[in-house]
Amino acid sequence: VIPSPARIRLTGQIGVLQVPTALKQSVVIPTFNERDNIGALLERLTAVLPAGETEIIFVDDSTDDTPDLILQAAMDCPLPVTVYHRDHATGGLGGAVVEGMRHARGSWIVVMDADLQHPPEMVPRLIAAGTRDGADLVVGTRYAGGGSTDGLSDGYRRLVSSGSTVLTKLVFRNSLLRVSDPMSGLFAVRASSLDVGELRPEGFKVLLELLVRNRPGRIGEVPYAFQQRHAGESKSSFAEGARFLKHLAILRFGAQRTRMLAFALIGVSGLIPNQLALWLLAHVAGVHYVPAAIAANLIAVGWNFALTDSLLYRNRRHRSLSGRMTRFFVMGNADLLLRIPLLAVLVDGVHLGVLVANLITLVASFVVRFLILDRVIYLN
Ligand code: GDD
Ligand code: MN
Repeated sequence: VIPSPARIRLTGQIGVLQVPTALKQSVVIPTFNERDNIGALLERLTAVLPAGETEIIFVDDSTDDTPDLILQAAMDCPLPVTVYHRDHATGGLGGAVVEGMRHARGSWIVVMDADLQHPPEMVPRLIAAGTRDGADLVVGTRYAGGGSTDGLSDGYRRLVSSGSTVLTKLVFRNSLLRVSDPMSGLFAVRASSLDVGELRPEGFKVLLELLVRNRPGRIGEVPYAFQQRHAGESKSSFAEGARFLKHLAILRFGAQRTRMLAFALIGVSGLIPNQLALWLLAHVAGVHYVPAAIAANLIAVGWNFALTDSLLYRNRRHRSLSGRMTRFFVMGNADLLLRIPLLAVLVDGVHLGVLVANLITLVASFVVRFLILDRVIYLN
């Protein structure tokens, strides 16, 4: 017996191929620990999609046996199913979707969740609407026509959902106003209008990424009722919420300016340990103010390094820890050597007030330090 393609497991990744080359639709489904949803999902997709024209692509970042269960279910499934398991979940949900788009061969690519909150019966309806209206993108919307968010488990989640939608529309004013549900995880995009290379997704909001970076021409919408999760738990979390704000900032200001903004916030936060240490050393312990100020500066530089290294440049730690730390501390102290003469020039030469002069040296040093950080310490 020739093993069915569903049983072939490629090294590292899992592949199930053997699909006719011209396909009408590829359904891309990101999965993270969805073992108990796969059976029902494939069953309902099979009921509404013709086998010869369809492929199903799972992009999996699971830590459980979801990919194995997909392969098992695929054996009884008339639709060709492919699973790509990623060892590094780069970009999270959005990264998985983009990976799936790269492999998709259908003229339409439909993106949906695995937990049946998106009714599988919507897949042919989205494509039919797009074909009928000549659209590049068709969004499944909860916020227009007969759409609803009934499946959002509680009032808190409903508030987060509508709040983030309003915030997004404020940030992007005109360009997104024509889409009622830019946060939807259910949409169909015409493959010929898609530019996957432009997409740099960051977490859950992959449709937003596509709207902002690919600027699709004609956009259609089909309302649907967001369902209750079939089994398992949602992966949205507080950390995912923070990631969404970062994603919004990157889309709005660009990646480098967003890092500069974050660096500024971290720098400002460093004032707290700095002042606290200065107060403890100079006032409580009675140390002379010059060494106290230098020690306080060191503590603040340590604080800034910890936050910068763990939050801001987590993905660009190409140098060793000691290499990064040494350079960062050299910069933090060089800053002191630079600011004090500049301060003297501004106060004694230009006759500025001490506070104003100090502020100028802080801003100047901030810009210089950011450029060194972004160009020298953390290589691109
Ligand atoms: N591969 C991969 N990697 N898949 C992921 C990851 C990840 O890091 N995180 C989540 N997923 C998968 C889940 O397994 C599920 O199939 C789908 O992405 C959605 O995840 P949920 O955890 O169920 O998200 P949600 O229900 O809170 O939010 C969904 O609905 C919102 C409203 O439509 C998402 O689609 C949101 O993007 C959407 O805004
Ligand atoms: Mn869900």
